[in-house]
Amino acid sequence: MSTTQVVHTIAELRSQVAAARARGLKIGLVPTMGALHPGHVSLVAASARACGFTVVTVFVNPTQFGPKEDFAKYPRTLEADVAQVAAAGADLVFAPSVDEVYPAGNATFVEIGGVAEPLEGECRPGHFRGVATIVLKLFNIVGADVAYFGQKDYQQTLVVRQMVRDFNVPITVEVCPTVREPDGLAMSSRNVYLSPAERKQALALSRALRKTEQAVTAGERSVWKLRDVLQTELAATPEVRVQYAVVADAATLREPAELDRPCVALVATHVGTTRLIDNCLLRP
Ligand code: PAJ
Repeated sequence: MSTTQVVHTIAELRSQVAAARARGLKIGLVPTMGALHPGHVSLVAASARACGFTVVTVFVNPTQFGPKEDFAKYPRTLEADVAQVAAAGADLVFAPSVDEVYPAGNATFVEIGGVAEPLEGECRPGHFRGVATIVLKLFNIVGADVAYFGQKDYQQTLVVRQMVRDFNVPITVEVCPTVREPDGLAMSSRNVYLSPAERKQALALSRALRKTEQAVTAGERSVWKLRDVLQTELAATPEVRVQYAVVADAATLREPAELDRPCVALVATHVGTTRLIDNCLLRP
């Protein structure tokens, strides 16, 4: 029998968290936009292992979607989401309305520099401003000890870490590995948009990343050549329209000449009208 409670207001959330704190429990936070899949569930399970009280937030955050993006059609499946996180050990689901989070008169946003500027920063203007704003709000609303994020959104993890450092937020950020379908496709709430044909084409992303990883294992250290391996493999599936495919320094996202430090291969594409991203770490 699940004991996961669902609350919709900040006041209810805060009173539940305060009660858990009074019991001496460590508080874990898993921010999500819902439409949950095993990737999200892995974050909940990681929190439940390390923390006595796990809060999952389910909120499709309007401020991180561009005007032509899929905010309106983003899948909303709260009942199924609650069942999944309950099974993984969540104690509380916070599913607020837009008005609860952004009441009339809201006028403050968080702007991150540096790691937020390239790649997603260029393809999705304003996206990280919305992400940083909602994540800081959730950190302040929940007051958790630890927050869990997925490597799937690699640049997002760097942006969150940058914000935590720059604003002295008293929270520990944990990053969990990307969970994949058996054939390699990174799990994503947006995969439901793919037609059967697009679903097959989408495998080009994980295949290209795997080839790049294999080139590193085989001894390739030139970042230019590694980027070529990545881009050539993606180009073999012309239905996959590449926005960027790069090999970058894992901490700064700048492109070094040699793989002489931890790097990350990052890919963003459109398959049909669906935007898909993926990445993998490359260690020298
Ligand atoms: P969302 O896309 O719902 O993802 C919530 C969390 O789940 C993120 O940390 C994301 O990286 C992680 N995640 C998604 N797919 C994953 C996978 N296949 N394996 C492991 N982790 C995965 O990211 C967001 O929401 C929003 O930007 C949010 C941080 C909630 C702010 O609105």
